[in-house]
Parts: sequence; structure tokens; C-alpha cells
Amino acid sequence: MFLGKKGTVGLDIGSSYIKIVQLKDIKGGYELELFDLLPLPPELIVDGSIIDSFRLIDSLKELLRKSKVKTKDSVVGIAGHSSVIIKRISLPEMSEEELSESINFEAEQYVPFDIEEVNLDFQILGPKGEPGQMDVILVAVKKDIINEYVSVVKEAGFNPVIVDVNSFALENMYEINYEIEPDKNVAIVNIGASTINMNILKGGISVFTRDSAIGSNLHTETLQREFNLTYENAERLKKGEPVENVSSEDAFSVIESASEEIISEVNRSFEYFRSSAVHEDINEVVLSGGCALMKNFLKPFAERIGVETKVIEPFRNIEIPKRFDVTYIEEIAPMAAVAVGLAIRRPGDR
Ligand SMILES: Nc1ncnc2c1ncn2[C@@H]1O[C@H](COP(=O)(O)OP(=O)(O)OP(=O)(O)O)[C@@H](O)[C@H]1O
Ligand SMILES: [Mg+2]
Repeated sequence: MFLGKKGTVGLDIGSSYIKIVQLKDIKGGYELELFDLLPLPPELIVDGSIIDSFRLIDSLKELLRKSKVKTKDSVVGIAGHSSVIIKRISLPEMSEEELSESINFEAEQYVPFDIEEVNLDFQILGPKGEPGQMDVILVAVKKDIINEYVSVVKEAGFNPVIVDVNSFALENMYEINYEIEPDKNVAIVNIGASTINMNILKGGISVFTRDSAIGSNLHTETLQREFNLTYENAERLKKGEPVENVSSEDAFSVIESASEEIISEVNRSFEYFRSSAVHEDINEVVLSGGCALMKNFLKPFAERIGVETKVIEPFRNIEIPKRFDVTYIEEIAPMAAVAVGLAIRRPGDR
């Protein structure tokens, strides 16, 4: 029945790396069909907005060629503190159809933009809280940001079939890889180059999401400034490679202070979560994104946050065929987390 159906690819267009993942449905789970990534020159994407679409299209085309992907149908992820609004709201109980019809009206008071300027989506979480009320997750994404991404992806030769939000992709990725424990609050913290996506799951259901405009670029920028380095050399230093005229000890203390700032941002969000209406604690953190690859990040993170923290394994329950370089894939796996979550989506699913 599915012969000839090539499925979809997850396309995670980060500000520093584009990641592509394709998963094959196999009995009882997934098998890795394709995983590849390509670094982007700095400043093509700033604050989630595409600044240089021509060069981004070129990079996407290059990744398309390099990865030899056969499927053009793609699921595109969007992040962005300024273009994506995710809110958990309480509404009078109604059916999915009824809410579909009234969502524009209901959403108006929660979305700080003109309702005509956003695409709305929602998920009913069930009748909790007060009687006659239900909890709903409301998602609003600015149409112009969707159009920006969809048009570069199309120009590059892909066929975008779904646009998803990165923090939800992380949730889907988590679900297929980990046992959900009903009484446990798990925070997925994805630290990329310029964004932190946080999603706190209670028994597997999202109860808090937040994106912050800070990431591991802060390490790079601080190293550049402190030692007068090019972007490329600062990136090298950060990855533990030797760079002329800078000792690793000197680099270490600079890196440490940038880490401190990034960790504080996560801590502030956690404090907010703990003090908000739910009054609940966080039992575990899973860390993903390129920042999780940094030596000397996990330990200070876990110590400062005070919660058991582990690095995400996005391929934990995904079979990796022998033709892949498994050691390499496992090494950079935390960077694939969002793309894996996007690759799980299929047109028409919910
Ligand atoms: N081996 C490594 N050691 C240290 N840092 C690394 C390593 N590999 C990548 N990074 C850093 O991780 C970041 C890239 O991670 P990631 O791919 O998750 O970000 P992104 O998705 O491009 O960014 P964003 O989502 O914030 O726009 C870069 O800042 C890069 O320097
Ligand atoms: Mg990213």
C-alpha cells in the first residue's frame, strides 16, 4: 500500500546549522533513512528572521545535493520568541469542530498581534480545572515568518507540507524515545546558537514552553571580543580545537562566563515555572542542541540548576542501519533533536 511513498523529511533550519532527518516507519518504530547537516555562514538568520534568503537558498540546495535526499516533501520547523505564541488557556468545553470554528474569536485576547496576521492552531488537552472548562494549547505563528521560511524552502527545491514549532518537535522526539512517567516533570532544554527552546512536560504533556533569544553564539562572540578572533577561530576554540596565541586555560574562563549567562536564562525560566500557578518542581532536564556538545557545559549546568540533567539521545529508539557512521552520529546526535521530531510528522496527523 505504501510502495513508492517516499515519506517526508524533517528540515531544521537553525541559525548556525541546517539539519535534515528522514525516518522510515518500520514495524514497532522507526529506522534512520537519512541524517545530514550543513553549517551556515553567520548572520543569514537573525532573531529567527531570514536576512539573506539568497545565500540560505544556496545552502539548502547544497544540503539537498550533499545528502542525496530523494524526498522533497518536508516538515519545516519554526522557532522564535517574537513570531510564535504558545499559550495554555482555559475555555468552555466544546468539541474540536466547534473550537475550529470559533478559534479566531477565542484567540483574539491572547495573541498580541492582529488575528488576521497569524496562523492559529490548537490542541485540546482535556477537561481539567473547573467543571465545564477545558485546557487548550493555543499556537499562533505570524504568517509573514511562515511565508519567509516556506518560500526559501520551495526555492531550494523542497516541497514544504507541514510547518511545525520547534518546541513541539522536541516533545514528539522525546515521546518516541523515552518512557513517560505520569508523575514526573521533565524539562527539554534545546540550546542552539541563538535560541533556547524550553518545553516542560508533565506526564508527557506540555505545561510550559518558552523560547529565549540567547544561545551558544554568546560563547563565540565573547571569545571573538576577548581575543580578537575571527568567527571561525572562535568556533574552533569553543569546540576544543587549538587556536594560535590563545591558551586553552584563558579560553576556558571566558567560555565559563558565557555559560554562566546562558544557564542563568534557563534558571530564570525555571524559577518562573516553579512560582507560577502550578507550583511544581522540575524532576529532570534533558539537554539538546549544539551547546550540549560543549565540554564543560553539562556539569556547571546541572550544578547551578540543581536538577538531574542528561544529554538527549534523539536516536535512542531509532534503528540505525550499518551503512551509517554510528560513532559520528552519536557524537553529534544532540544537534539532531529538533529535526528528528520534525521527521516524525506525517501529513494529516494530529
Ligand atoms: N562540538 C561542539 N562543541 C561545542 N559547540 C558546538 C559543537 N558543535 C556545535 N557547537 C555549537 O552549537 C551551536 C549549534 O547548535 P545547533 O545546531 O543546535 O544550533 P542552531 O539550531 O543552528 O541554532 P538556533 O536554533 O539557535 O538558531 C553553534 O553555536 C556551535 O558552535
Ligand atoms: Mg536550533
